[in-house]
Amino acid sequence: MTSKEHDAGPVTDFQNGKPHRILINDRPVLIVRKGDEFFAMRDGCPHAGASLAKGQVIGIACQALPGLAPGYEREGEVVTCPWHGWSFDLRTGCSLVQPQRYRVRAYQVEVRDGRVWVQTG
Ligand code: FES
Repeated sequence: MTSKEHDAGPVTDFQNGKPHRILINDRPVLIVRKGDEFFAMRDGCPHAGASLAKGQVIGIACQALPGLAPGYEREGEVVTCPWHGWSFDLRTGCSLVQPQRYRVRAYQVEVRDGRVWVQTG
C-alpha cells in the first residue's frame, strides 16, 4: 500500500449504480459501482461546482429506430450533474460534450480483500 492509496470502505457499502460521496484528505470524492467494477473522481462539477454525487448515473443515449424508445450504451459509466445536466465519463472524467475542455479528475480504483481502494497519486 502506498501513502496515496485510500481505503474507501467495504465493497458491500456501495450500491450498484448509485453515486456515493466520501472524503479523502478532506476532499470530496465520487465513487460509483458498476457490478464488480468501481469508478472514482473528484466530486465537483467543473461548470459551477455541484456535487456529482447528487447526480444520476446513466449511460450514453443512443439512437433508436422509429417507434422505439432510445436505449443506452455504456450504462452505469456516465454521471450527469444535478444542476445543469453536464455529463461526465466515469472512466476518464471527461465531459461527454467537450472532453478536451472540461474534465473532472478521475482516480484509479482497485478492489482488494473485499474493500475499495482509491489511488490519488
Ligand atoms: S454545475 Fe454542473 S453542469 Fe452546472
